Amino acid sequence: MSQTAAVPAVPAFTAATAPGALPLLGHGHRLLSGPVDFLSSLHAHGDLVAVRLGPTTAQVPCHPALLARVLGDDRLFDKGGVFYDRARDVAGNGLVTCPYGDHRRQRRLVQSAFRRSQLAHYAGAAQAEVDAAAADWRPGLVVDAFPLFYGIALRTLARTLYSTAISAELAAGVERSFDTVLNGLFRQMFLPAPVRRLPLPANLRYRRSLAYLHAATRQLITSYRSERGDRGDRTPGDEGATDLLSALLDAVDEEGGGSGLSDAEVHDQVITLLAAGTETVAATLTWALWRLSLHPAAAEQVRAELAGVLPGGRPPTPEDLPRLAAVDRVLSETLRLHPPGWLFTRLTTAPTELAGRELPPGTTLVFSPAAVSRHPAAYDSPAVFDPDRWRPERVTPAARQAFLPFGTGARKCVGDLFARTECAVALATLLSRWRFTPEPDADLRPVPLATVLRPRRLRLRVAER
Ligand code: HEM
Repeated sequence: MSQTAAVPAVPAFTAATAPGALPLLGHGHRLLSGPVDFLSSLHAHGDLVAVRLGPTTAQVPCHPALLARVLGDDRLFDKGGVFYDRARDVAGNGLVTCPYGDHRRQRRLVQSAFRRSQLAHYAGAAQAEVDAAAADWRPGLVVDAFPLFYGIALRTLARTLYSTAISAELAAGVERSFDTVLNGLFRQMFLPAPVRRLPLPANLRYRRSLAYLHAATRQLITSYRSERGDRGDRTPGDEGATDLLSALLDAVDEEGGGSGLSDAEVHDQVITLLAAGTETVAATLTWALWRLSLHPAAAEQVRAELAGVLPGGRPPTPEDLPRLAAVDRVLSETLRLHPPGWLFTRLTTAPTELAGRELPPGTTLVFSPAAVSRHPAAYDSPAVFDPDRWRPERVTPAARQAFLPFGTGARKCVGDLFARTECAVALATLLSRWRFTPEPDADLRPVPLATVLRPRRLRLRVAER
């Protein structure tokens, strides 16, 4: 007997197939040449649109309500599919990649490291790294936006994990290896398995970098344990942990019989956080500065707010952050138009029906915040950068539902507040002291097949405020 439909079909939703597939490539060329334009154009065909990625046919939910429904049922639409298969090479069975069966326990354990009470500490780490990065800036200096923010985000996360700054040499090694791995991940995803196994230079570089990352993470955890004289006596609900790694090592799952994370699980969580929490933040900051440089009215609102909240350009304290409403709106609008994570997959675990289409178990769904973030049912003039659309008196339930840069449901980003805090600290600190103007050689087309949407080149000239 069929076990059809934990998700009821709603006849109002329509299903379609995207036109323009090429033999072999399918729609891969469209995803490569303009991922956001392609994904955000799909809703014109239907609410659930089939696309072909090489040999795989994937279903893309394009209506915000349909996507919310998929993300709301993580047992039926489980992690899996081409993206998560490859992401597991990097992050093992960590929180981002683990299947439904392992998720709730892991989430409870990792969540304890992201308590609001710890955010103030993490904000301090971001502040220290932004200050250090900008310490010797002079007017006229040109900075390369994404690498600058990637370095800040990586060192902030490292400082958050270990309380202190990690060595410059280790940071550089990790940065280089992540660069190779994250840039190779989508290529690996589209390659057939036999080609992935060939000893080609790109495959070898990818595997070497992965091995380095795993070894460096193991080494960091071991030395951290010995430095803090790990006693192994976990304190339930310990509020005293000031860094992320302590919080992970000490986490106790009281609902799950008092177990903690094993060493292998801590390893997978650390590498997961480093992969999930650095490029995403760097891309957000890069796009935010670019957008502000093109929208003087929005930039002026931010500057006026900063002049009031942070007189004399003093650095923000955690207590200042809730008062930075204009900065927060700029972040939301940047994340709406440039959601860093642009392609995630799900796999159906039982037969079901979606938008009137029968989906057998093992069907791949592609989830992209970019596919809904410009949906005309959710936003007026969806392509326009308008931070004021997030003012409380203007924001609508439909706009909130379509705002999915962090996903939604049980698998929603565990680091969303961390990321917003870090981005707010960086923007407030830099914009209260500096103005940024793009250099003429900017190339805003997204880097093809990168794990996050980021411009190919954006160099910014720095001037005093
Ligand atoms: C602007 C920055 C960020 C964006 C846009 C972002 C986006 C996302 C998205 C879309 C998901 C859901 C993926 C899915 O449903 O398949 C996710 C999950 C996750 N993110 Fe983030 N992320 C950001 C920053 C961070 C940071 C700073 C951390 C940690 C330090 C982090 C850690 C995670 C983890 C562990 C998950 C898995 C949650 C779970 O499955 O329970 N992210 N993120």
